[in-house]
Amino acid sequence: MLVLGIETTCDETAAAVIERAPDGSGKILSNIVWSQVEEHARFGGVVPEIAARAHVDLLDGIIDRAMTEAGIDFAQLDGVAAAAGPGLIGGVIVGLTTAKAIAMVHDTPLVAVNHLEAHALTPRLTDALEFPYCLFLASGGHTQIVAVTGVGQYVRLGTTVDDAIGEAFDKVAKMLGLPYPGGPQVERAAANGDAARFAFPRPLQGRPDANFSLSGLKTAVRNEASRLAEITPQDVNDLCASFQAAVLDSTADRLSVGLKLFREQFGAPRALVAAGGVAANQAIRGALHDVARKAGTQLIMPPPALCTDNGAMIAWAGAERLALGMTDTMEAQPRARWLL
Ligand code: KG4
Ligand code: ZN
Repeated sequence: MLVLGIETTCDETAAAVIERAPDGSGKILSNIVWSQVEEHARFGGVVPEIAARAHVDLLDGIIDRAMTEAGIDFAQLDGVAAAAGPGLIGGVIVGLTTAKAIAMVHDTPLVAVNHLEAHALTPRLTDALEFPYCLFLASGGHTQIVAVTGVGQYVRLGTTVDDAIGEAFDKVAKMLGLPYPGGPQVERAAANGDAARFAFPRPLQGRPDANFSLSGLKTAVRNEASRLAEITPQDVNDLCASFQAAVLDSTADRLSVGLKLFREQFGAPRALVAAGGVAANQAIRGALHDVARKAGTQLIMPPPALCTDNGAMIAWAGAERLALGMTDTMEAQPRARWLL
């Protein structure tokens, strides 16, 4: 089964072709990702209107490259999948409309994929992982712990009540004068900082639910920074290190509760799976290893290029749905918000 996947929900314009074998294994034939990060950097964050216009300009060329690299033509496709949300609505409209046009012209099935579902199913492409497993998704837009028990079967065990983790990294970076996107900058600064210098809160620590909260921590960083007369580079490093240490402790605590809830409801998970840009952070990866080990499960992290937004994950989720006969009509709607 050959499926084209299209991803345009944020600031990556991406298309990919995957092949799914009857035994359920998958192969990436092409995976083209164009990051718009430079277009948005001077604004300190993603500007939705700029993103939507860039998707319009770029998408056709990216799809062409994905098809050429895969060495197939449209007539060979068994389906076309697009992320129909959640995300910035202008971009979602561009991707879904393009997928509908391809489906119509080439008479091939359409699959409108939930972007979060695509993150959730990626380890079945990379690691042939069996259900059920526990997903920790931490990106600039989402922080969720999800029990994945089947295709289309997701139970949210925890989520953030305010900022996403990546969003908190980006906001802390911005307030300390570090460039966008801030996550990697904060990690770099933290490596040279003293994590014990500032005693920041560990939000929701010890609570019986598996939710996250980041905004109080972010405010605590802002307050400490404004108390310093003049912020030296070492202050920035120490603030970043102390902030990151709080995020690590909070993440470990929230995830261990999430895994406990998982066990109570679904039995032992086959793995803890981490996805999203935040999982690129080495310190967080270390914390996730500890959490998995203590919970007696394995940690699976798809390679970074498949953890962050890409077309292959959309194509793969489309193929998994297609294999079960789950297709969509031309009435499929783009959605800014779409819970799993
Ligand atoms: O998954 P992703 O590439 O895009 C979406 O948000 O969908 O995630 C990007 C987010 C940004 O907030 C970025 O600052 C954060 O992931 N991030 C990191 C690191 N690398 C990326 N956060 C902390 N440490 C990092 N090394
Ligand atoms: Zn994403």
